[in-house]
Amino acid sequence: MIPHGDLVARLAAVVGERHVVTDADVTAGSCVDWTGRYRGATPALVQPGSVDEVAAVVALCNEQRVAVVPQGGNTGLVGGGVPLDGEVVLSLRRLGQVGPVDPDAGQVTAGAGATVADVHRAAAAAGWAYGVDFASRDSATVGGSIATNAGGTRVLRYGDTRAQVVGVEAVLADGSVVSHLGGLVKDNTGYHLPSLLCGSEGTLGIVTAARLRLVAPAAERVTALLAFSATGPAVRAASMLRRSMGSLEALELFLDNGLGLVCEALGLTRPFPDRHGAYLLVEAAGPSDPLDQLSEVVGSIHDVADVAVASDSVRRAQLWRYRDGLTEAINTLGPPHKLDVGLPAGRLAAFLDEVPAVVVAVPEAASARTWLFGHVGDGNVHVNVTGLAPDDDRVDAAVLDLVAGMGGSISAEHGIGRAKRQWLSLSRSDAEIAAFRAIKAALDPAGILNPNVLLPPIA
Ligand code: MLT
Ligand code: ZN
Repeated sequence: MIPHGDLVARLAAVVGERHVVTDADVTAGSCVDWTGRYRGATPALVQPGSVDEVAAVVALCNEQRVAVVPQGGNTGLVGGGVPLDGEVVLSLRRLGQVGPVDPDAGQVTAGAGATVADVHRAAAAAGWAYGVDFASRDSATVGGSIATNAGGTRVLRYGDTRAQVVGVEAVLADGSVVSHLGGLVKDNTGYHLPSLLCGSEGTLGIVTAARLRLVAPAAERVTALLAFSATGPAVRAASMLRRSMGSLEALELFLDNGLGLVCEALGLTRPFPDRHGAYLLVEAAGPSDPLDQLSEVVGSIHDVADVAVASDSVRRAQLWRYRDGLTEAINTLGPPHKLDVGLPAGRLAAFLDEVPAVVVAVPEAASARTWLFGHVGDGNVHVNVTGLAPDDDRVDAAVLDLVAGMGGSISAEHGIGRAKRQWLSLSRSDAEIAAFRAIKAALDPAGILNPNVLLPPIA
């Protein structure tokens, strides 16, 4: 490898001197993940301003065998977007342009550095909507959301990020650019690279732009918070709501300890006079007001202990704050261990009930606190555990074993990253992992693209 000084000079020749940052005080923010659990260092933070510059940077790094971590809004939660092994950080933030919305197709091309909120705004201004949404929308970028195949709160209605991506432009490890942004919805001309790149965590190529499908905006929207005595009735109600309401857009679950923490950390008033075991945040949306249907369905669920309903945007936002505030509130307790698991619908309630005992049974975790919440409509539970040393992963192992034993996935939406790569075999067979390695070797033979995430190191 060439000395750092030479590498920096050659990178600067590509992107301009002011777009190569080497001062450790300035790069520090790019070297730690959002949770504060994963910290590293980089010789250079490179900020290309065009796809051609990205291609030239990657070609140079490939030639010099320098590992690169692509980074967008740095909101990832699995240590997959930070330079834990001294990689160069390639920021896509300057590729932030959102093109004009095609009003006929209901599509838009967005640069990798545009935020998810930018796409929402552009879509809304043209009378459309974007189907993916989550709490970090103002910082999370299009590129990062594709690299992690981000999920969020609307997956049960519109699918994950992969389901929105009609085409991508990406830079491969040798610096070549693959671009297929024409927007044809039906296009069976070979391998579907957008599907492959979605969820590839920057290991196969660096997404620089994407053609995104938009959805019909909902003229009417209603949000309800339902209280239940325990997780079992809440999970049963979630399934009944899915069966009964085609206009359902979100179905989020959280427990009383999480609600208490959010209220305390964010200074909110509790939504109900009494405490309850579990809460469901329900949102329905469509061309006509879903309030009557939602009231009817909720009225038929016998186990509902209390209800708050909101149709106006201010009150709806207040109800969402109890859910969206969880991540932020949990982080006030120190870096959490974050797991985002997926369970078969029939095992969800049992998992929610069993997991706290599994956590405290782990040696030295007796006083750890477990926070359970998530997207119950698609079987995705967030297990956050606080009060553990950042590098002690015995609780992670115990929870993921429980998940695998119940037929679940060790990552439903955040990806594998650094946090979970040692447990990939709990969810993937040897043959699948061998296929992953073959794809990686074919597209990135020198192993420079985010080489320290997703795939476990070969022993
Ligand atoms: C969420 O659903 O709130 C996000 O996935 C973030 C998190 O798990 O903290
Ligand atoms: Zn989530």
